[in-house]
Amino acid sequence: MNSVQTPAELRAWRAAHPAALGLVPTMGFLHEGHLSLVRRAKAENALVAASIFANPAQFNNPADLAAYPRDIPRDLALLAGAGCDLVFLPEPADMYPPGFDTWVIPGAIAAPLEGEHRPGHFRGVATVVLKLFNLFDAQRAYFGQKDAQQLAVIRSMARDLDLPTAVIGCPTLREADGLAMSSRNSRLSAVERSAAAVLYRALSAARRAWLAGEADAEALRATMRATLAEEPLARTEYVSVAHPDSLLELERAMPGAVLSMAVNIGRTRLIDNIVLEAAGVIPPPGGIQSTAPGQPNPDNRALS
Ligand code: PAJ
Repeated sequence: MNSVQTPAELRAWRAAHPAALGLVPTMGFLHEGHLSLVRRAKAENALVAASIFANPAQFNNPADLAAYPRDIPRDLALLAGAGCDLVFLPEPADMYPPGFDTWVIPGAIAAPLEGEHRPGHFRGVATVVLKLFNLFDAQRAYFGQKDAQQLAVIRSMARDLDLPTAVIGCPTLREADGLAMSSRNSRLSAVERSAAAVLYRALSAARRAWLAGEADAEALRATMRATLAEEPLARTEYVSVAHPDSLLELERAMPGAVLSMAVNIGRTRLIDNIVLEAAGVIPPPGGIQSTAPGQPNPDNRALS
């Protein structure tokens, strides 16, 4: 596996390796969720590249950026093991040199949910992802459904700006208790880690209610809030039942609706979501226990 730090080095590598490329952008501290994207990219492209860059432009809270976990040697070993061909490891000054002053401003899709609670976040995401798309000139780029609104923002940008890179959404990988894998989980204490399972419990409770015939979106939000309220360490920022295209709040739930939430557990802010399937589908036996650790959750398909 090769590694490069600067945009010039990256362009030189790409010129020497012109085959079809799958790109996996990350902020590092990799887990099985990230590696599932790398493996998918490996299966669908001659070459696979990853980037590791904790993008300062998308952190609305400087303390959050400073506390973001890092372990580059471990990340490099995991990427090499997953068959990655190139890793791009820029420093902030490589991506935002002095005088940098052009931004991508996403539209309405970036306004609610994370956009409302993290001002400027999606401007930072869209800008860095466009730069990565331009630098890598990849055929495909892989993103997790775990960050459903981010995926929607990037899809909109690719469509609206005629980007040649295809945006591929991939399912959320979960721990055995349902907690979505996230680099931020490493910041949880043992007691916070067990409390964090409440996010998926709340999403699953609302999903069960939907499957049992509850289509009133406010009732589904109330179910999520009530489950979250049972966990004293959880402080809910928002719960949402939103339209899959606009991410605006629904009055009536529908197949494809995105159930999502942001919840603080101690100092750690976690987000998660699931997509509703058609009512009348029988939920898997054993509910969340049916998801093996490290496996994609079959009831959480990617938006496509
Ligand atoms: P990061 O949080 O490191 O995530 C990198 C990619 O991995 C994203 O596409 C994310 O959705 C995906 N991912 C994270 N957890 C996952 C899980 N449990 N299952 C499946 N996929 C998962 O998202 C970012 O970085 C940044 O915003 C980035 C796109 C790199 C731009 O800076």
